[in-house]
Amino acid sequence: MKIWWAVALLVAAGCDGGGGGEDAGLDAGPPGVDAGPRDYTPEPFDPTDATRAYCQGDDDAIEARITELLGELTLAEKVELMHGVGIGLVDDTWAVAGNDAAGIPGLRMLDGPRGLSDMTGKRGTAFPVGMMRGATWDPEIERRVGAAMAREIRSAGADVLLAPTINLLNHPRWGRAQETYGEDTHHVGTMGVAFIEGVQSEGIIASAKHYAANNIEDTRHDVDVTVDERTLREVYLPQFRRAVQEAQVGSVMSAYNQVNGLYCDLNTHLLREILKDEWGFAGFVESDWILGTHGDAASVLAGLDIEMPSPAHFRFLQRAVLAEELTEADIDRAVRRILRAQFCFGVDARERVVDDPSARETPEHLALAREAATRGIVLLRNEGAALPLAAGATVVLAGRVADLPNIGDEGSSNVLPTDVVTAREGIEAQAGSVTLLTALTPADEATVTAADAVIVVTGNTVEDEGESDIAAGDRDTMELPADEIALIEALAALNPNVIVVLEGGSALLVEGWVDDTAAVLHAFYPGSEGGHAIADVLFGVAAPSGRLPFAVPVAEADLPPFDNTSLSVTYGYLYGYRHLDAAGTAPRYPFGFGLTYTTFTYDSLTLDATTLAPDGTLTATVEVTNTGTVAATETVQLYVAAVGSRVTRAPRDLRAFGQIELAPGATGSVELTVPARDLAFWDVDAGAWEVEAIDYEIQVGPHAGELPLMETVRVE
Ligand code: BGC
Repeated sequence: MKIWWAVALLVAAGCDGGGGGEDAGLDAGPPGVDAGPRDYTPEPFDPTDATRAYCQGDDDAIEARITELLGELTLAEKVELMHGVGIGLVDDTWAVAGNDAAGIPGLRMLDGPRGLSDMTGKRGTAFPVGMMRGATWDPEIERRVGAAMAREIRSAGADVLLAPTINLLNHPRWGRAQETYGEDTHHVGTMGVAFIEGVQSEGIIASAKHYAANNIEDTRHDVDVTVDERTLREVYLPQFRRAVQEAQVGSVMSAYNQVNGLYCDLNTHLLREILKDEWGFAGFVESDWILGTHGDAASVLAGLDIEMPSPAHFRFLQRAVLAEELTEADIDRAVRRILRAQFCFGVDARERVVDDPSARETPEHLALAREAATRGIVLLRNEGAALPLAAGATVVLAGRVADLPNIGDEGSSNVLPTDVVTAREGIEAQAGSVTLLTALTPADEATVTAADAVIVVTGNTVEDEGESDIAAGDRDTMELPADEIALIEALAALNPNVIVVLEGGSALLVEGWVDDTAAVLHAFYPGSEGGHAIADVLFGVAAPSGRLPFAVPVAEADLPPFDNTSLSVTYGYLYGYRHLDAAGTAPRYPFGFGLTYTTFTYDSLTLDATTLAPDGTLTATVEVTNTGTVAATETVQLYVAAVGSRVTRAPRDLRAFGQIELAPGATGSVELTVPARDLAFWDVDAGAWEVEAIDYEIQVGPHAGELPLMETVRVE
């Protein structure tokens, strides 16, 4: 399937894949040019704060070594460092050549966002998908997941992890919704920063992708996203800026699509002006695969450093230098970034692991996958405390994914776990008895009626959503399949205790059937240990703590339209919960929503100041009490409303969140900080951020739809 994809794309691109080797020389330019060492003095390099912060080694020594190498390598040798070696894997990784004589190791890359790529053919832990980890709202778990994933890809010989996906969920039907963390810029940024920190703590280079505005699958290779500068700056880019400035991400992958009329790899504004010059990104930019590069000199000048996975365009770079379409100094700038990543992350200083299966699917990694999945399950409904079920309960199990290893997309994020614990297996391990229904026949009715609970595990699978070309692409609908709805209703007519476990990458509509159920959980694609995680929540081994990282509307029409057929789309400023809020449309489940087996009250919101300087930081403290009978974790959310702003704003924006675990009856305080710069809007005329000197309401509570506490701070 994936080979077909590659061949089809290459044919579509009208190229033969380059492949390095013999062909590359033919396109390099007239014979005899650049043959061997010659006098060349690279431009002097002045370290910046950004290059210093990026480097985990001795950055002065590293920059000096790079300068020396740039003087020694031939132009042809430099260009060799700037592209993948071919459209297939080399020793089970995507390879970028090094140069043995010069002590340059090159780079070995692997996907991806939920574990070791299946393309290696090697077994690895299927972590819950990004969206489920987003639903944990727990950066600490995400940091540990990033580190574990890094260990697994390193054990297969890779230095670069092609993750995290930090494109926003602009619409729930996006085929790769599952890979990202949610719809909110702040929340996605926080989770992305944690993941990158975890990955890079293991010496592996993370690659934040896909930069930028990559939120539709079916037209991903060509769609031109029109987005005004303010929306771009405030909505689509902040999480990438944080990846660069807070997490020092090693690399960024440019997206396939166009933004404002230019493909991302040709987009000087995105790559050079914003990412590199303004944010001070010190790592390298690599293209998305096969169809993600559209130029040779033009792409390098725009800011693309590496073409992946083969030199379909970059094999012409030498010729382009000779034709004076760019200079050797332009090539040097790209190569400096590529070498900086290799040397600062110590890729040259360690033995590349050939293959170490003992580092994968370790008990620790599987336990972490289970913990993350348990923490990410969102309890959406629990009428009459139907959940948790008693240990030993008699259960009837039904639904299309009840016994399906349902770990998510079969695109580039696919993984190959040795075993997947299905919902059936997990529930069987904790229930008294389980009857699995594959169809509801009259003969089953008495069993259904007599059961303590009927659990319907349903939702989306690889057939419904995923990466385009390789897998299912965008979702056609936000509804459950009609026969699954009919099944829920037929079961609900026989037993009042129907519990629906939804799986899928993002929001599923629940209208028409939800009122007939006793409880509903969203369990995403929960990974290797998913069935155990689902059972842990159903049987109360764990109190649910997941919170929706998106709003679930009543109807799809409540959201801005999702256009995955047109080659030209416009992204507005408001989408998701902000759009619903601004339109005054109540969602079925608000952004940030999730129930648990206890209740919490909020009290005593205090701000550390009533006024704030534009470069200051506000600290808010709130007291939370567990008023129920079981211990549980609460996610405290802080939203900001800019009162009387001179520009259109969302009614409220999430700006901070934090968690607290409380025993029954216990009270604890949660401290949240908001830097004033996070209150700013992008002033298009001034081309700068402005923190307006106005009042800001600080609204605190359990989710976007319930914010019982409010205080005001004034920026002066
Ligand atoms: C995807 C990237 C992925 C790459 C390599 C592309 O099709 O868009 O996310 O990292 O393939 O597998």
